[in-house]
Amino acid sequence: MTFNPLEQRGIPLDRQLRTWRELDVEPIDPDHCDPYTRCRIITMNGIEVEAILFSHQMARHCPDPAVKRRLAQVRYMEAQQQKAVNWLLPGVSSVLETTIAYEQVAVDLTAWVARAEPDPYLAQAYRFGVLEDFDHLYRYANLYEMIEHRKAESIVDGLTEVMPGRPTPLHHRDPLDNVRDPYDKTTVNPLSKLHALTIMSAEQQTMNFYMNTGPTYMEPIARQLYQEIGLIEEEHVTHYESLVDPGETWWEQLVNHEYNECYLYHSFMEQESDPKVKAIWELHLNMELEHLRIACELMREHDGREPQEILAPELPNVLTFEPNKGYLRQLIADELDLTTLGAGYVREAHERFERMQQALNDGETTPSDRVLAMHREQFGREYRLETEGEHPVPSLRER
Ligand SMILES: [Fe+2]
Ligand SMILES: [Fe+2]
Ligand SMILES: [Fe+2]
Repeated sequence: MTFNPLEQRGIPLDRQLRTWRELDVEPIDPDHCDPYTRCRIITMNGIEVEAILFSHQMARHCPDPAVKRRLAQVRYMEAQQQKAVNWLLPGVSSVLETTIAYEQVAVDLTAWVARAEPDPYLAQAYRFGVLEDFDHLYRYANLYEMIEHRKAESIVDGLTEVMPGRPTPLHHRDPLDNVRDPYDKTTVNPLSKLHALTIMSAEQQTMNFYMNTGPTYMEPIARQLYQEIGLIEEEHVTHYESLVDPGETWWEQLVNHEYNECYLYHSFMEQESDPKVKAIWELHLNMELEHLRIACELMREHDGREPQEILAPELPNVLTFEPNKGYLRQLIADELDLTTLGAGYVREAHERFERMQQALNDGETTPSDRVLAMHREQFGREYRLETEGEHPVPSLRER
C-alpha cells in the first residue's frame, strides 16, 4: 500500500483542540495488553516530546512574531497529543517496570531500524547502540527481581530476550568518541532521516526519564544503577543526534519532524491490535497531516523551496515492532567487542577509552556489575530470560 502524506488532507488546525473529556483516555490493561502496544505508546510519547521541544527551540531562534504564533498554535496540539498518548499508560506500573518497557523499546525499535537502514555507516551506529540497551535491559531485570521480587518476563512477555549484551561498564567512553559523522542531507536516502530522528527521540526520552525518576528509589543500588545507565543514555543521545546533518535549515527540520510523525502514526495504526489505541493512532495521523501541511507552507514561504525536494515520494515500509531475537544473537556473536574511536569503531580498548574508565571507576566496580553480584548472592543465580528454540534472523516484511 502506498501512502503519500503530502497528498492527504488532515483535520484543520482550528478543529484539533480536544476537551478535558476527550483527553481523558482510558489506559491500557497492564496485565492483558500486547507488550508491543505499550512499546508503541512509549515510542510515540518520545516522538511527541521531541516535537514539542524542537518547536520550542525553533521559537527561541525565531525573530518573526507571526511564525512564533504559528509554531505556538501547532505546538499546543502536539502537547495535547503527548498527553493523550502517554496517559494511555496505566498508573499502576512502578518506575522500574516502565524502565524495563523503555529498554524493550530501545532494543526492538533500534534492531528493526538497524535492519531497515540502507546506509552502511548509519546502520553500524544502530547496531552498535542496540547491544548496549540490550544489556541495560538485563541489568534492570536483575534489579527488578531483587527489589520488587517480580520477573521482567511479566513485562517483556518473551518477545524480547533478557540476557547479557555488551557489558554495561564498557559503555563509558570519552565523550570525544561519542560524536559520529553526520549524513549528507543532499544525498542521503530520505528514509535514513526518519530513522535518525526516531531513534534520537526515543533515546532522549529514556535519558530524560532516568534523570528524573532515578532518585525516586530509596535502595542505594537502584539509585546508583540509574545514575550509571542515565549517563550512558547521555552518550546515546550524543551518538544518535550527531548522525543528523546540522546543515538542515530550521524549516527543513520542522518538515522532517512532522513527516516522521505521519510515518510513525501510519505505521502503528497499521499494526495496532488494541482497537481503542488504534483509534488514537488514526486520529493523530489525521492531525499530523495538517501539521505537515503547515510546516510545508512555512518552508515554501521562508526557505523558498519545495518540500518534495527533501521528502520521500511516499511513506516507506511501515516501521514494525516484532521480535528480533535471532538478529540480536547474531549481532552479539559478531559485534560485541566494538568500541568507538573518533567517528569510527575499533575492536581494541584504546588509550582514551582506558583513561575514561579509570577516571570514572577509580578502581571500584560499577553499579551495573554490583547489581549482578548482589542478585547472585541473594538468589544464587542471575536473572535471564532466554526463550527456547531456533531464532531465525528475520527479514524485513515486504510492503
Ligand atoms: Fe504530534
Ligand atoms: Fe540507550
Ligand atoms: Fe506534529
